[in-house]
Amino acid sequence: MRTSIHGQWSSRWIFILAATGSAVGLGNIWRFPYLTGENGGGAFVLVYLLCVIMMGIPIMMAEILLGRRGRKSPINTMETLAAEEGLNPNWRFLGWLGVLAGFIILSYYSVIAGWTIAFIFKTGMGDFVGANAEQTTTIFSELISSPGILLFWHSIFMFITIRVVSRGVSGGLERAVKFLMPALFVLLLVMVGYAMSTEKFLDGLKYLFIPDFNSLAEKNLFSDVFLPALGQAFFSLSIGMGAIMIYGSYLSKDSSITSNCFVIAIADTSVAILAGIAIFPIVFTYGLDPSDGPGLIFISLPIAFGQMPFGTFFGCLFFILLMFAAWTSSISLLEPAVTWLVESKKMSRIKASYIAGFIAWLLGVLTALSFNYWAFEFSFAGAIKQNGLFDIFDILTSNIMLPLGGVLVAIFTSWLMSRKSTVDELGLGDSIAYKIWRFTIRYIAPIGVLIIFLNSIIVFIFWLTVLFKILFILKINSLGSKGFGK
Ligand code: PFF
Repeated sequence: MRTSIHGQWSSRWIFILAATGSAVGLGNIWRFPYLTGENGGGAFVLVYLLCVIMMGIPIMMAEILLGRRGRKSPINTMETLAAEEGLNPNWRFLGWLGVLAGFIILSYYSVIAGWTIAFIFKTGMGDFVGANAEQTTTIFSELISSPGILLFWHSIFMFITIRVVSRGVSGGLERAVKFLMPALFVLLLVMVGYAMSTEKFLDGLKYLFIPDFNSLAEKNLFSDVFLPALGQAFFSLSIGMGAIMIYGSYLSKDSSITSNCFVIAIADTSVAILAGIAIFPIVFTYGLDPSDGPGLIFISLPIAFGQMPFGTFFGCLFFILLMFAAWTSSISLLEPAVTWLVESKKMSRIKASYIAGFIAWLLGVLTALSFNYWAFEFSFAGAIKQNGLFDIFDILTSNIMLPLGGVLVAIFTSWLMSRKSTVDELGLGDSIAYKIWRFTIRYIAPIGVLIIFLNSIIVFIFWLTVLFKILFILKINSLGSKGFGK
């Protein structure tokens, strides 16, 4: 039996905690509520839940299966498994797609995680005591319009991510996740408790759980609701880019992939739903606009912290825990690239972590500037996006690269790998559970993604125009630097 040169989890629970640590992060508490607000409330949530069940869980099982069988970085795992199954070694490009997506996600993820660090200090210093919606909006706007501050916190966050990855994931991560994840969960329950005391609690619940198809009349269901919901399911479960695959490669052979996946997906989804239940009643009670975009939780939750008893303490603790949740996710975004550098370029883990982390940091500078100097607006999926490159990075990775990566994983495991290999690895025998998994991953996942992609063709036209715009800008710049007119 193969083992990973990078180590192994010390127990099944540590794997579950680490994978949950990867899944639960800004995606659940920051991204899920704001996308729900932008893309149609209950209808978005419904499609998101369907995507988690019908595509997310089966693809997560497939990714872990591949990781555990290959026991290498996603790039080398794909190459090795393709060779073993007599397939084209170019399947390694699936690993590359993941590494690239990981870099792009990490680059902006770190900037947003930087906001949470800034908010630890703001809440801790009592900036929000008694604040109304207008004041919290101003505080947030001031933060994102200061590139220096954004870059500072982005750098700190990237540094602490690199530190953990450079020491080997299992050591630091195991300890962090054991206490912090449950604490975050409890604190979310406290926030839900506060939301229950607000006037518009029921309105918030209705908005979240009852699809209002009338409000979608002007939207294109596929590109404006289904595609973002699909992307959110992949983003939130950390699938489609090799993060869960690499964690699977440290999993011992006797642990059940299926039950692990269910635990992870249930934990991840409950955190997102709890965050929604905590946030929307506050949004409605204080007259905020649910489609306010990426600032939504940073504007709404501080109002609650400013009003509730011990709010400064709870607020500070909340942002600390959110930062830790982001940290345990960012580690898994960097890990696939680092393991590849260690395996294939024979670098030390420390050097590999700093190099890969530095590249992601550089890319993150673009995001930090897209909230101020380089901000530009465009409309996408029925919503106005105001933060140019950040939004482009986010949409490109979660709505396109992750689902594409996930479907290729699905096709590889269910159509190309031998049935015997997957039966062997999943340990379900030829049971009904195995058959359901195989059916979903063979048909439902690829067909579902294909239908959503094809119906979102407008989105792809959008990408083409973005590409042309970028080429055009580059051309203008190159003419300029050649001394245009001289
Ligand atoms: N799942 C993480 C979150 O919800 O915050 C983000 C993430 C981590 C996405 C790892 C993708 C990934 F591979």
